[in-house]
Amino acid sequence: MKIVVIILFTLALACTSCNSKSELSVKSEVPDLIMPDNGLSFKEIEDYKSYKIVATHFRNDKNELRYILANKPAYKAYITGGKFPNGSKIVKIGWDVKKMPNFGVALEANEVQRVEYMIKDSENFNKNQGNWGYARFVKAKGKYKSWDKGTVSCVNCHNLAKSNDYLFTKLQSLQ
Ligand code: HEC
Repeated sequence: MKIVVIILFTLALACTSCNSKSELSVKSEVPDLIMPDNGLSFKEIEDYKSYKIVATHFRNDKNELRYILANKPAYKAYITGGKFPNGSKIVKIGWDVKKMPNFGVALEANEVQRVEYMIKDSENFNKNQGNWGYARFVKAKGKYKSWDKGTVSCVNCHNLAKSNDYLFTKLQSLQ
């Protein structure tokens, strides 16, 4: 009997680690890049493929499709209307678009142009409004590199969205 219990327990444990492995497998192979001005890394959001979609945007002038994703604590704040806690991460991915080869009046995402994010961190970014840290990684010819023009402009422009904790994006309705 004891042995059966032990076997069952071991199986249950194995299964738990199975699940967490499959969760881990959504980790993307993100490049080892660091923002030169604030030290934020691309690896900080290596699990971004498992974040929830908050909204989609399209920028006409840049012909760019954007997805805004949020990690668990940030998404929770979005759906409950609560405060964004430390550790909230919001990611924006931008794609250029092309005509669908099999239906020319429709557009589809082409290549990723960049991945950028905001992270709420009151310890390291206590000087930034809303305690958000900013990072951008741009992709050209299939390779990412860190944005080297600094993040002061990010902070300044996002100040326009002060009333919404410096986030422009609101939760997009699904109904
Ligand atoms: C000139 C204004 C401007 C600047 C500069 C700017 N942003 Fe934004 N950002 C926006 C707007 C407008 C949106 C929402 C529309 C969209 O998706 O493009 C946005 C959206 C975002 C989002 C999604 C969350 C949100 O606030 O909606 C992230 C993450 C983000 N920006 C990061 C950055 C980073 C990192 C930088 C600097 C490298 C930066 N932004 C610079 C205007 C700006």
